[in-house]
Amino acid sequence: MRGRVCPWWLGYLLASPLRRWFDDPVRLLAPYVREGMTVLEPGPGMGFFTLELARLVGPSGRVVAPEIQPQMIAGLKRRAARAGLADRVEARNASPDSLGVDDLAGKVDFALAYAVVHEIPDTARFFKETAAALKLGGRLLLAEPSGHVKPADFDAELALAGQSGLKAAERPAIRRCHGALLVKS
Ligand SMILES: C[S@@+](CC[C@H](N)C(=O)[O-])C[C@H]1O[C@@H](n2cnc3c(N)ncnc32)[C@H](O)[C@@H]1O
Repeated sequence: MRGRVCPWWLGYLLASPLRRWFDDPVRLLAPYVREGMTVLEPGPGMGFFTLELARLVGPSGRVVAPEIQPQMIAGLKRRAARAGLADRVEARNASPDSLGVDDLAGKVDFALAYAVVHEIPDTARFFKETAAALKLGGRLLLAEPSGHVKPADFDAELALAGQSGLKAAERPAIRRCHGALLVKS
């Protein structure tokens, strides 16, 4: 499945409120996100987690969400506007080869990569860019769907993350996913 991108129309399903019953975003994110934080969320789709991140960072924080599919970006912007959160959500165009977050170097407190890393062709570059954006001690919550990503492939992702200075501090239980909380050291 590496490099195969989720079709944009699935974005509607992924952002459905019914998903909250199975993947409660508050329960997942509240332990890591505080008011005023700068959060990076690569591959947000239409914003199922993004809106909750935006609520948690409050009016003084911001969520930067690089995404490669314009339909996903349009859906995310629509949802953020409807929720009154557009001022703290910055959906931006990424390319398959780069997140385009050089401007965030050392500014990000927390990053979420949920069901996206296996879609990115250059995993090593993804971790390098994310690590560069994080502050020292900043954290990346990585979740990869266990239906698409074998345990050995997830371990290989963690090894690549380690080469960029992102070390697994915890292995949180995330429904139907491999999960790891990585810390920049
Ligand atoms: C399976 S969806 C998950 C969406 C969201 N994280 C969620 O859980 O609802 C993966 C998303 O990652 C995006 N994506 C794939 N490759 C990407 C890349 N190189 N950079 C940024 N986003 C990417 C896809 O367009 C899609 O929106």
